[in-house]
Parts: sequence; C-alpha cells; structure tokens
Amino acid sequence: MTEIADIYLRKILDSRGNPTIEAEITTVSGGFGRACAPSGASTGIYEAHVRDCDEAIADAKIKLLPHLLELDAADQFGFDEVLHEVDGTENLSGIGANVAVALSLANAKAAASAQNLELFQYLGGNGLYQVHNTPLPLGNVIGGGAHAVDATDIQEFLVIPTGAGNSAEAVFTNALVHKRIKEILVARGKGCGKGDEGAWAPHISDLEAFEIVKEATDKVADETGIEVRMGLDVASSEMWNAEKQRYVYKTGERTTEEQIAYLAELADQYDLLYIEDPIQEEDFEGFAAFTKAVENRDTLVCGDDLFVTNAARLAIGIEKEAGNCVLIKPNQIGTLTDTFETIQLAHEAGYETVMSHRSGETTDNTIAHLATAFGCCLLKSGVVGGERIAKLNELIRIEEHF
Ligand code: PGA
Ligand code: ZN
Repeated sequence: MTEIADIYLRKILDSRGNPTIEAEITTVSGGFGRACAPSGASTGIYEAHVRDCDEAIADAKIKLLPHLLELDAADQFGFDEVLHEVDGTENLSGIGANVAVALSLANAKAAASAQNLELFQYLGGNGLYQVHNTPLPLGNVIGGGAHAVDATDIQEFLVIPTGAGNSAEAVFTNALVHKRIKEILVARGKGCGKGDEGAWAPHISDLEAFEIVKEATDKVADETGIEVRMGLDVASSEMWNAEKQRYVYKTGERTTEEQIAYLAELADQYDLLYIEDPIQEEDFEGFAAFTKAVENRDTLVCGDDLFVTNAARLAIGIEKEAGNCVLIKPNQIGTLTDTFETIQLAHEAGYETVMSHRSGETTDNTIAHLATAFGCCLLKSGVVGGERIAKLNELIRIEEHF
C-alpha cells in the first residue's frame, strides 16, 4: 500500500522570484504527496545547507532517488535516515537541505494520502499528540530588516489575536489589524509598500512602528471586542557587529546589556507576548540574561537563528536557560524526523514551539498541518499574500475537523 512507486523533483518559482524545489512522491496504491522547500533571507549561520536547485536535482536523480524507491512511505524515520545516509554530512550539504525537506515532507503526505488521512491526522492522531485544536496565527504587520529596504530596524512587528474564539476569527482579526495599519499609515502620509512577507514596509522608525501597531490593535479591539497582543522578531543577528561588539541600529548602537534593557522595557511598555531573536545567534548567555529580564511577564522568548530547529543547539539552550520558546522551520534542519525530535525535546523541557514560514515561500500549506499535529501554540505565516494565506486558509479548513 504505502510502498514508494515513483518520485519526481522539479524546479519551481518562489514568492521572491527565486527558484526552489518541489518534490512529488506516489505510492503503489496511488497515495500522492507534494511538498516544496521554502527559503530564508535572514538565515541563521547554523542552518542546514541549501544547494543550487538545478545541480541538486540532477545529483539527486542519480545518487539519491534510487535509494528511496520501494521504501515504505509510512516509515518516516526510515525514509529520513536514508536521506542522511546518502547525504553523509552534518549539515545536508551533500544532497541539499532544499532537496531533503521537499522529499521528507512529500513522503509524509504520500503516506497520509495512501491511508486516506489528512496530514495533521496522520501525524497528530497516530503519534504522541492526540490533537484537538489548531494554533493561533502569529502575523507580521510591519516589517523591515532583511525583508525590505529603508524600513524599520526590527525585522518584524507581529500580532497575535489572543481574544479570538477560533482560527477563522483569529485569521480575520490579524487581517483587520493589517488593514487598519494601512489607514493609519495613509493618514500619517507614509508609504504603503510591502516587504517579502506581505507586511507593510514604511520608511519609519521602530518607535513609530510600535505606536502605529498599538493604535491599530486598540482600534480592532474596540471594533470587535477581540484582544490582540503584540510581538516582535528582532532578528538581532542581522544587526550584530562582532567587531564593535554592538547591535547597530540606524539610531545608534547598543551593547548586549543595553539591548537587553531596551527590549525588556519595550516588553513592559507594549505588553509584548512574543519576542524572537532578541540576542544574536551565538550568544546563549545573552539570550539567557534576556529571558531572565522578562521572567516576571508572560512573554514568549523565542529562538530562531539561535536554535535553527536543531535539537543539539536547543539542548544547549535548555541547559543555559536561554529562551522559553523555539521557532520551528523544517527547512532549517531538513527532515520531518529531525523537526519532530526538536519539537519533542522542546515540549519535554517545557518550551513552547512556534511553527514558521520563511520569507521566501510557495503556496505549499504543509506547515499548517505540522503546527496542528505537533501541538505548536502559534503558526507564524504572515497575514496577506497568496503564499501566506495558503497556510492560513488551510488552518481554517483543518479547524473544521474538530
Ligand atoms: P527568513 O525570516 O525566512 O528570511 O529567515 C524569517 C525569520 O527570521 O523568522
Ligand atoms: Zn526570525
């Protein structure tokens, strides 16, 4: 039934106009899975290695796919183990993390399809987690950093509709905040261009962005009665200057201690529920110090570039008490098994997990299923744009099963 009969790889277009890899797997019984690799712009230095699409596909056809044919798609651990064996490196630079993640996810989808199950049911129902709810959407409404030119220093100003009763209401609440922000920007005579993830990318200071998002979330709360909290992805590795040992903002520079104090004060002032990468990716101690600085609050202190979805890096973080939340991007680590192991380790240690898109995306909606199946508290996937709403609309569909 779930034996793999056919595998196909192709190069397709991503949301930034770059090539990316799509994999298709068919089982002997006709089960079919298709998945695409996303790509980052503010990538962590410890992420798995992405290869040139044409070269990676040509190599895979000869060296990798013959080893995968006839495997049992329902044995995900076995499938992912073969990916690692053929790859033979620590960071997937042999076969390419883009080839690996597309194949690994397509395999799970083929196995689910062969058993007439949705992916979230296949992974969530049979596994450790008996799933019965969907995550809240974490949406990017104003952005700069590596995702837009001449915009904010902080990469992402995010919103979380904590007062929403269900996923559908939550998704539309974030969209309403996004709309209200445009109106505020127009009223202030600011530009309304968008960054790579569909967030507004005006030429404004970080402090003005805080004011605007606050005004918009207050307006939406008045209109709908739904509480919306704020969050940030500081993406601070992009600002870190190792020579100066400072975080370099357009408005000035901050030492690690100053960065911690600055962000902790913002957390209080704007009641931040979520802060990602406040401290750069090599500084576990600084990350731990920041986590301690906000420990009196309910703030999720999330590691993206710090952990890169890597269980070994997360284990260091747990030991040092760096953060209390892990960003999960399957393409950072390359296989579903590795992704699952990191999530499992996080939950065992009492860390929350947030499933995430990348800034370069396709209409692939797999992460909505993974977030649900693995019990992530949030799904980070933007607010508008075809490749972002692909995930959000899938969340609405998944929720109808509960
Ligand atoms: P990336 O950005 O996909 O460009 O890495 C997203 C993030 O930093 O969370
Ligand atoms: Zn990030």
